[in-house]
Amino acid sequence: MTYQRVGISTKIFEKTNHYITWLNSRPILVAKVEGKYYAMDAVCSHMGCALLENVSGKYAECPAHGAKYDITTGERVTEAMIKPDVKCEYDNNTVPLKTFRVKESNGFLEIEI
Ligand code: FES
Repeated sequence: MTYQRVGISTKIFEKTNHYITWLNSRPILVAKVEGKYYAMDAVCSHMGCALLENVSGKYAECPAHGAKYDITTGERVTEAMIKPDVKCEYDNNTVPLKTFRVKESNGFLEIEI
């Protein structure tokens, strides 16, 4: 297993339970849920918009049309409120969204790549 260091865990989670990092030019949502770290592809499967905000507990909600995802599994738990007819930033997104193992090592967060 190969891990990539993505941040200083103590600094990142002082004031928030989530943040966005990047792996291979894609946004990755990293969240701390009940003391454990999770990482998930941050591109919505509906029309490809970025899941940059709206994180509550283990759920991330797409700001575009309300699709909601379980950060711990990548599964979509709430469907989008409209049907797509135009793609956004990314194509070919499927559910569950890809999730990544996260570990904390000497105060740094690392994501399995
Ligand atoms: S792009 Fe996310 S719900 Fe539409």
